Amino acid sequence: MDNRPIGVFDSGVGGLTVVKQVMKALPNEDIVYFGDTARLPYGSKSKEAVTRFSSQIVRFLLTKNVKAIIIACNTASSNSLDTLRKEFSLPIFGVVVPGVEEALRSTKNKRVGIIGTAATVRSNAYQQLICQADPEIQVFSKACPLFVSLVEEGWTENEIAHLTAQQYLKELIEEGIDSLVLGCTHYPLLKRCIGETVGDAIRLVDPAKATARQVWNYLRENALLNETEKPGDRVFYVSDATDKFEFLCQRALKKSYEPEIIDIEKY
Ligand code: DGL
Repeated sequence: MDNRPIGVFDSGVGGLTVVKQVMKALPNEDIVYFGDTARLPYGSKSKEAVTRFSSQIVRFLLTKNVKAIIIACNTASSNSLDTLRKEFSLPIFGVVVPGVEEALRSTKNKRVGIIGTAATVRSNAYQQLICQADPEIQVFSKACPLFVSLVEEGWTENEIAHLTAQQYLKELIEEGIDSLVLGCTHYPLLKRCIGETVGDAIRLVDPAKATARQVWNYLRENALLNETEKPGDRVFYVSDATDKFEFLCQRALKKSYEPEIIDIEKY
Protein backbone atom coordinates (compact mmCIF):
# COMPACT_ATOMS: atom_id res chain seq x y z
CA MET A 1 0.00 0.00 0.00
CA ASP A 2 1.26 3.49 -0.89
CA ASN A 3 -0.87 6.50 0.04
CA ARG A 4 1.17 9.11 -1.79
CA PRO A 5 -0.62 10.96 -4.62
CA ILE A 6 -0.39 10.36 -8.37
CA GLY A 7 0.95 13.33 -10.36
CA VAL A 8 -0.79 14.17 -13.64
CA PHE A 9 0.21 16.89 -16.06
CA ASP A 10 -0.69 18.53 -19.35
CA SER A 11 -0.06 21.82 -21.09
CA GLY A 12 -3.51 23.02 -19.97
CA VAL A 13 -6.95 21.60 -19.28
CA GLY A 14 -6.71 18.68 -21.73
CA GLY A 15 -5.29 16.37 -19.09
CA LEU A 16 -8.52 16.72 -17.12
CA THR A 17 -10.04 14.22 -19.57
CA VAL A 18 -7.46 11.73 -18.30
CA VAL A 19 -8.02 12.74 -14.66
CA LYS A 20 -11.71 11.94 -15.17
CA GLN A 21 -10.89 8.34 -16.12
CA VAL A 22 -8.29 8.00 -13.36
CA MET A 23 -10.88 9.18 -10.83
CA LYS A 24 -13.26 6.48 -12.12
CA ALA A 25 -10.71 3.66 -12.18
CA LEU A 26 -8.87 4.69 -9.00
CA PRO A 27 -11.39 6.61 -6.89
CA ASN A 28 -9.33 6.43 -3.68
CA GLU A 29 -6.14 7.80 -5.15
CA ASP A 30 -5.06 11.36 -4.33
CA ILE A 31 -4.22 13.33 -7.48
CA VAL A 32 -1.96 16.35 -7.93
CA TYR A 33 -2.62 17.95 -11.32
CA PHE A 34 -0.47 20.52 -13.09
CA GLY A 35 -1.60 22.44 -16.21
CA ASP A 36 1.13 24.51 -17.87
CA THR A 37 -1.25 27.30 -18.87
CA ALA A 38 1.55 29.88 -19.11
CA ARG A 39 3.37 27.97 -21.86
CA LEU A 40 0.50 26.34 -23.74
CA PRO A 41 0.31 25.25 -26.53
CA TYR A 42 2.97 22.55 -26.51
CA GLY A 43 1.88 21.29 -29.91
CA SER A 44 3.67 24.04 -31.83
CA LYS A 45 6.92 23.77 -29.81
CA SER A 46 10.09 21.81 -30.49
CA LYS A 47 10.83 18.42 -28.93
CA GLU A 48 13.59 20.07 -26.85
CA ALA A 49 11.26 22.73 -25.45
CA VAL A 50 8.49 20.24 -24.62
CA THR A 51 11.05 17.97 -22.92
CA ARG A 52 12.51 20.83 -20.87
CA PHE A 53 9.03 21.92 -19.76
CA SER A 54 8.09 18.34 -18.91
CA SER A 55 11.25 17.82 -16.80
CA GLN A 56 10.48 20.96 -14.83
CA ILE A 57 6.96 19.72 -14.21
CA VAL A 58 8.18 16.31 -13.02
CA ARG A 59 10.55 18.09 -10.61
CA PHE A 60 7.65 20.20 -9.34
CA LEU A 61 5.42 17.15 -8.89
CA LEU A 62 8.20 15.37 -7.00
CA THR A 63 8.04 18.16 -4.40
CA LYS A 64 4.43 17.01 -3.86
CA ASN A 65 5.75 13.53 -3.01
CA VAL A 66 4.03 11.73 -5.90
CA LYS A 67 4.47 7.96 -6.27
CA ALA A 68 3.91 7.91 -10.05
CA ILE A 69 3.29 10.35 -12.88
CA ILE A 70 0.87 10.28 -15.79
CA ILE A 71 1.79 12.47 -18.74
CA ALA A 72 -1.77 13.37 -19.70
CA CYS A 73 -0.55 15.02 -22.88
CA ASN A 74 0.12 13.30 -26.19
CA THR A 75 2.63 15.94 -27.26
CA ALA A 76 4.81 15.36 -24.19
CA SER A 77 4.20 11.59 -24.23
CA SER A 78 5.28 11.25 -27.86
CA ASN A 79 8.25 13.62 -27.62
CA SER A 80 9.58 13.37 -24.08
CA LEU A 81 8.56 10.12 -22.34
CA ASP A 82 11.81 8.24 -23.05
CA THR A 83 13.98 11.12 -21.82
CA LEU A 84 11.89 11.56 -18.67
CA ARG A 85 12.11 7.85 -17.89
CA LYS A 86 15.90 8.05 -18.16
CA GLU A 87 16.07 11.18 -16.02
CA PHE A 88 13.70 10.17 -13.20
CA SER A 89 13.38 6.92 -11.32
CA LEU A 90 9.66 6.90 -10.44
CA PRO A 91 7.12 5.19 -12.73
CA ILE A 92 6.02 7.51 -15.56
CA PHE A 93 3.10 6.66 -17.84
CA GLY A 94 2.25 8.19 -21.21
CA VAL A 95 -0.99 8.15 -23.19
CA VAL A 96 0.33 6.99 -26.56
CA VAL A 97 0.83 3.26 -25.89
CA PRO A 98 -2.67 2.87 -24.38
CA GLY A 99 -4.05 4.82 -27.37
CA VAL A 100 -2.29 2.47 -29.79
CA GLU A 101 -3.68 -0.58 -27.98
CA GLU A 102 -7.21 0.84 -28.20
CA ALA A 103 -6.78 1.63 -31.89
CA LEU A 104 -5.62 -1.95 -32.60
CA ARG A 105 -8.69 -3.27 -30.78
CA SER A 106 -11.01 -0.87 -32.59
CA THR A 107 -10.09 -1.12 -36.28
CA LYS A 108 -11.69 -3.79 -38.44
CA ASN A 109 -10.80 -2.47 -41.88
CA LYS A 110 -7.19 -1.65 -40.88
CA ARG A 111 -7.49 2.02 -41.77
CA VAL A 112 -6.85 4.24 -38.76
CA GLY A 113 -6.88 8.02 -38.48
CA ILE A 114 -4.79 9.88 -35.90
CA ILE A 115 -5.46 13.49 -34.99
CA GLY A 116 -3.18 15.42 -32.68
CA THR A 117 -0.99 18.47 -32.37
CA ALA A 118 1.66 19.25 -34.97
CA ALA A 119 4.40 18.00 -32.61
CA THR A 120 2.59 14.70 -31.95
CA VAL A 121 2.00 14.09 -35.66
CA ARG A 122 5.62 15.05 -36.45
CA SER A 123 6.93 12.58 -33.85
CA ASN A 124 5.31 9.69 -35.77
CA ALA A 125 4.91 7.86 -32.45
CA TYR A 126 1.41 6.51 -33.13
CA GLN A 127 2.20 5.49 -36.69
CA GLN A 128 5.38 3.64 -35.70
CA LEU A 129 3.80 1.72 -32.84
CA ILE A 130 0.68 0.79 -34.80
CA CYS A 131 2.67 -0.40 -37.81
CA GLN A 132 5.06 -2.35 -35.57
CA ALA A 133 2.10 -4.17 -34.04
CA ASP A 134 0.32 -4.77 -37.35
CA PRO A 135 2.13 -3.80 -40.59
CA GLU A 136 -1.12 -4.22 -42.55
CA ILE A 137 -2.73 -1.24 -40.85
CA GLN A 138 -2.65 2.00 -42.78
CA VAL A 139 -2.39 5.11 -40.64
CA PHE A 140 -3.52 8.55 -41.77
CA SER A 141 -2.44 11.44 -39.55
CA LYS A 142 -3.65 14.99 -39.40
CA ALA A 143 -2.52 17.83 -37.16
CA CYS A 144 -5.47 19.85 -35.84
CA PRO A 145 -3.81 22.64 -33.84
CA LEU A 146 -6.85 24.92 -33.64
CA PHE A 147 -8.79 22.31 -31.67
CA VAL A 148 -6.67 23.09 -28.58
CA SER A 149 -7.49 26.82 -28.74
CA LEU A 150 -11.19 26.05 -29.24
CA VAL A 151 -11.22 23.84 -26.14
CA GLU A 152 -9.25 26.29 -23.99
CA GLU A 153 -11.72 28.98 -25.10
CA GLY A 154 -14.68 26.77 -24.23
CA TRP A 155 -15.90 26.80 -27.87
CA THR A 156 -16.67 23.13 -28.25
CA GLU A 157 -20.18 23.11 -29.67
CA ASN A 158 -20.54 26.29 -31.69
CA GLU A 159 -20.49 26.84 -35.44
CA ILE A 160 -16.79 27.69 -35.51
CA ALA A 161 -15.97 24.38 -33.82
CA HIS A 162 -18.09 22.50 -36.38
CA LEU A 163 -16.58 24.31 -39.37
CA THR A 164 -13.06 23.72 -38.05
CA ALA A 165 -13.79 20.02 -37.54
CA GLN A 166 -15.22 19.69 -41.06
CA GLN A 167 -12.17 21.33 -42.57
CA TYR A 168 -9.65 19.26 -40.61
CA LEU A 169 -11.40 15.90 -40.83
CA LYS A 170 -12.56 15.90 -44.46
CA GLU A 171 -9.51 14.12 -45.84
CA LEU A 172 -9.48 11.46 -43.11
CA ILE A 173 -13.14 10.66 -43.81
CA GLU A 174 -12.30 10.37 -47.51
CA GLU A 175 -9.55 7.84 -46.70
CA GLY A 176 -12.22 5.43 -45.43
CA ILE A 177 -10.91 5.08 -41.89
CA ASP A 178 -13.09 3.17 -39.42
CA SER A 179 -11.35 4.40 -36.26
CA LEU A 180 -10.10 7.84 -35.31
CA VAL A 181 -7.67 8.24 -32.40
CA LEU A 182 -8.16 11.42 -30.40
CA GLY A 183 -4.39 11.84 -30.08
CA CYS A 184 -4.55 14.98 -27.96
CA THR A 185 -6.06 15.03 -24.50
CA HIS A 186 -7.94 18.24 -25.29
CA TYR A 187 -9.95 16.57 -28.04
CA PRO A 188 -12.34 14.45 -25.93
CA LEU A 189 -13.85 17.78 -24.88
CA LEU A 190 -14.79 18.17 -28.56
CA LYS A 191 -16.05 14.60 -28.83
CA ARG A 192 -19.61 15.47 -29.72
CA CYS A 193 -18.56 17.91 -32.43
CA ILE A 194 -15.96 15.50 -33.86
CA GLY A 195 -18.43 12.59 -33.68
CA GLU A 196 -21.11 14.55 -35.54
CA THR A 197 -18.58 15.50 -38.20
CA VAL A 198 -17.22 12.01 -38.91
CA GLY A 199 -20.52 10.14 -38.45
CA ASP A 200 -21.38 6.85 -36.76
CA ALA A 201 -19.30 4.66 -39.08
CA ILE A 202 -16.06 5.98 -37.58
CA ARG A 203 -15.32 4.99 -33.97
CA LEU A 204 -13.61 7.60 -31.82
CA VAL A 205 -10.73 6.18 -29.80
CA ASP A 206 -9.90 8.04 -26.59
CA PRO A 207 -6.70 6.73 -24.94
CA ALA A 208 -7.72 8.03 -21.48
CA LYS A 209 -9.61 4.98 -20.25
CA ALA A 210 -6.88 2.57 -21.32
CA THR A 211 -4.29 4.82 -19.66
CA ALA A 212 -6.17 4.74 -16.36
CA ARG A 213 -6.47 0.95 -16.67
CA GLN A 214 -2.73 0.61 -17.28
CA VAL A 215 -1.92 2.72 -14.20
CA TRP A 216 -4.39 0.74 -12.07
CA ASN A 217 -2.78 -2.52 -13.20
CA TYR A 218 0.71 -1.26 -12.45
CA LEU A 219 -0.18 0.02 -8.98
CA ARG A 220 -2.02 -3.19 -8.16
CA GLU A 221 0.77 -5.48 -9.38
CA ASN A 222 3.36 -3.49 -7.44
CA ALA A 223 1.31 -3.16 -4.23
CA LEU A 224 1.23 0.61 -4.63
CA LEU A 225 -2.52 1.20 -4.45
CA ASN A 226 -3.95 3.59 -1.90
CA GLU A 227 -6.16 1.26 0.07
CA THR A 228 -7.83 3.78 2.35
CA GLU A 229 -11.62 3.82 2.13
CA LYS A 230 -12.18 7.53 1.58
CA PRO A 231 -12.40 9.20 -1.87
CA GLY A 232 -9.07 10.67 -2.96
CA ASP A 233 -8.14 14.36 -2.65
CA ARG A 234 -7.61 16.31 -5.86
CA VAL A 235 -5.35 19.34 -5.96
CA PHE A 236 -4.80 21.51 -9.03
CA TYR A 237 -1.92 23.77 -10.00
CA VAL A 238 -1.40 25.95 -13.07
CA SER A 239 1.48 28.14 -14.23
CA ASP A 240 -0.66 31.18 -15.06
CA ALA A 241 -4.05 32.57 -14.23
CA THR A 242 -6.81 31.22 -16.36
CA ASP A 243 -10.41 32.18 -15.82
CA LYS A 244 -11.44 29.23 -18.00
CA PHE A 245 -9.87 26.56 -15.79
CA GLU A 246 -12.71 26.32 -13.30
CA PHE A 247 -15.34 26.35 -16.05
CA LEU A 248 -13.53 23.61 -17.96
CA CYS A 249 -12.98 21.63 -14.77
CA GLN A 250 -16.70 21.75 -14.27
CA ARG A 251 -17.26 20.48 -17.80
CA ALA A 252 -14.65 17.73 -17.69
CA LEU A 253 -15.04 16.58 -14.07
CA LYS A 254 -18.54 17.84 -13.22
CA LYS A 255 -16.99 19.68 -10.30
CA SER A 256 -15.28 23.01 -10.02
CA TYR A 257 -11.80 23.14 -8.50
CA GLU A 258 -9.84 26.31 -7.90
CA PRO A 259 -6.24 25.92 -9.08
CA GLU A 260 -3.23 27.41 -7.33
CA ILE A 261 -0.78 29.35 -9.51
CA ILE A 262 2.90 28.42 -9.20
CA ASP A 263 6.08 29.61 -10.88
CA ILE A 264 7.15 26.54 -12.89
CA GLU A 265 10.36 28.18 -14.13
CA LYS A 266 11.79 27.74 -10.59
CA TYR A 267 11.97 23.95 -11.02
N1 DGL B 1 -3.24 18.30 -24.61
C1 DGL B 1 -1.99 18.19 -25.24
C2 DGL B 1 -1.83 16.92 -26.03
O1 DGL B 1 -2.43 15.93 -25.68
C3 DGL B 1 -1.35 19.36 -25.91
C4 DGL B 1 -2.07 20.53 -26.39
C5 DGL B 1 -1.09 21.66 -26.69
O2 DGL B 1 -0.61 22.23 -25.73
O3 DGL B 1 -0.80 21.91 -27.86
O4 DGL B 1 -1.08 16.86 -26.96
